[in-house]
Amino acid sequence: MGNLIEIVQLKKSFATDAGELPVLKGINLSIKEGEMVGIIGASGVGKSTFLHILGALDRPTSGKVFYDGVDIFTLNEDSLALFRNRMIGFVFQFHHLLPEFTALENVMMPGLISIRREATGAKRKEIKKKAEKLLDEMGLSERKGHRPGELSGGEQQRVAVARALMLDPKVVLADEPTGNLDTPTGEEIFNLLINLNKEKGITFVIVTHNESLSSRCHRVLKMVDGKIETYQTF
Ligand SMILES: Nc1ncnc2c1ncn2[C@@H]1O[C@H](COP(=O)(O)OP(=O)(O)O)[C@@H](O)[C@H]1O
Ligand SMILES: [Mg+2]
Repeated sequence: MGNLIEIVQLKKSFATDAGELPVLKGINLSIKEGEMVGIIGASGVGKSTFLHILGALDRPTSGKVFYDGVDIFTLNEDSLALFRNRMIGFVFQFHHLLPEFTALENVMMPGLISIRREATGAKRKEIKKKAEKLLDEMGLSERKGHRPGELSGGEQQRVAVARALMLDPKVVLADEPTGNLDTPTGEEIFNLLINLNKEKGITFVIVTHNESLSSRCHRVLKMVDGKIETYQTF
């Protein structure tokens, strides 16, 4: 399969009180459809900044990101938001689930937001059915009515993974998805992501501190001084 994502001379600086802070200093990278890419690197090196730009949550200072040949930062805000919703799912270190809503409602949320005004009963039902199926797949059939506070850390993260899959993303970007979990629970979440990659062909870019987990990706990249180098290929 061909390259799904092409990153060309990507740079990002932040304006700070101390002046311009260059973080990403010219990243070139191609990611194939169906690939599982791990990213490691010291704290503060720019991994989250990179993932945010890859997911169009932030814009680069210069350089380009192509998805399926489309230069995404030439899109207007509405088209970029649409692209993000259709193409990308996010999983973060902290689950960011809405505490007042049940697991099922949290997973339904991206679906409900995407249909907005056309939220007819039939569409709502369809979204609910899909959210239930995703929670079943995550092994959470018995937890649909629980609020996040009533779930374990691993269960909360599995709900967050289900939510990330609600709109059938081609790509899931995960920023230290196991960083807040104990070792066996982190392993369980990582296995879940690996299975999603194998079974659904979802492309993954995963930032992780854990080298034994990252070594299970197809390729591990290391971010050093604002650039990315190949660390291991399997
Ligand atoms: N919005 C921002 N404004 C200013 N500096 C930022 C901002 N976001 C990140 N940084 C800085 O950019 C650097 C990289 O941060 P980050 O991408 O979070 O690193 P990592 O995820 O690798 O730990 C850090 O020095 C951080 O302080
Ligand atoms: Mg980070």
